[in-house]
Amino acid sequence: MQDKNSDKEENVSFTEKQFNFSMPTRATFGVGKLDSLGEEAAALGKRALVVSDKQLSTSEVFKKALESLQAAGVEGVVFNQVIPNPPDTIVNQGVEKYREAGCDMLVAAGGGSSIDCAKAIGAIIANGGTVKDMLDEDSVRNPIPPFIAIPTTAGTGSEVTIYSVITDSLTHEKLILFSHNLLPNVAILDPEITRGLPPEVTAGTGMDALTHAIEAYTTEVSNPISDAVACGGIELIGRFIERAYHDGDDLEARAGMLLGSHMAGIAFSNADLGSVHTLGETLGGFYDLPHGITMAVFLPYIMDYNLDAVPEKYARVAALLGEDTHGLSQMEAGRKAVERVKALNLALKIPTLADLGVKPENFAEMAKACKAHVCDPLNPKPIDEDTYLKLYQLAYQGQ
Ligand SMILES: [Fe+2]
Repeated sequence: MQDKNSDKEENVSFTEKQFNFSMPTRATFGVGKLDSLGEEAAALGKRALVVSDKQLSTSEVFKKALESLQAAGVEGVVFNQVIPNPPDTIVNQGVEKYREAGCDMLVAAGGGSSIDCAKAIGAIIANGGTVKDMLDEDSVRNPIPPFIAIPTTAGTGSEVTIYSVITDSLTHEKLILFSHNLLPNVAILDPEITRGLPPEVTAGTGMDALTHAIEAYTTEVSNPISDAVACGGIELIGRFIERAYHDGDDLEARAGMLLGSHMAGIAFSNADLGSVHTLGETLGGFYDLPHGITMAVFLPYIMDYNLDAVPEKYARVAALLGEDTHGLSQMEAGRKAVERVKALNLALKIPTLADLGVKPENFAEMAKACKAHVCDPLNPKPIDEDTYLKLYQLAYQGQ
């Protein structure tokens, strides 16, 4: 903790805080841990629906996962239809396959799309109904079947979060399920699996993870435990994201990113998210874009907007990202965090909104939709519709 920057944080009264913190998913971390899948699965069921996407299902990693299941006497029923921003129609196909094959557990291997899809399949299996019937916390009444999540990117943290984001196939709106009943029993974190991810995927998913950690640290409902985990995530991601981007085979960097994204997931599953997700997910309802890229685009703009509401927290973010904040005021140090994130976007070649083909004519409609987004009330500084519009315009102009 540095000089002047810590003043405000040290005055926080813990006796005025009330919060819950929960982390029921068991994480098993280590290079080569994929080999433990069969043993883990055998303790939970006999026939697993293995949820994944077409590309991953042809990979060596996937073959190893199925072999591990088979060696432990667990049948793997492959469902490889997941696509990015998975629609509810794909979830329904997965439910059908699960029932037809008589599965009794779920395994998901992939990025957030596959893990989120498996959660939604499980929610329907355990509760009946459709995705749209489960959009408030109490509607996922029964826990999903036993579930093992194997992240293949270091980004969403979905292997440890209470969230599942599914796209409405008719309106393209994001349908967000959230319940402790969606949590996996086990998350297998094997850095070897993320080795060789292409640079653009490393950049987008890594910036999503950084956004989770920074937003969780600064929301209205953050708490001392989630803060500690979020800060650990920020430090790891800041230290390793460029190394992982430039050298996909740097296993140390991959391990650091996988741990960092997992910690960010634990933090935001307990402290929620702010308006980077409000802007990015609303945009994602209008354009089919990679979630992580939209997060990277908006992160510096929301940090800049929030700076005077939580300068002490951004000052600490700057230090965690390796900036020298010695002797600076909280605002000066916090500004360095914003500049560091802008520089990261440049270093990681994050495309602009214009590069992504976004057109400004929808911005007014999007700004209005932002006010209905679940993360809007949790941002540390309130944002009105006009300001959302300005933020879209600023990000579009790259200013
Ligand atoms: Fe995210």
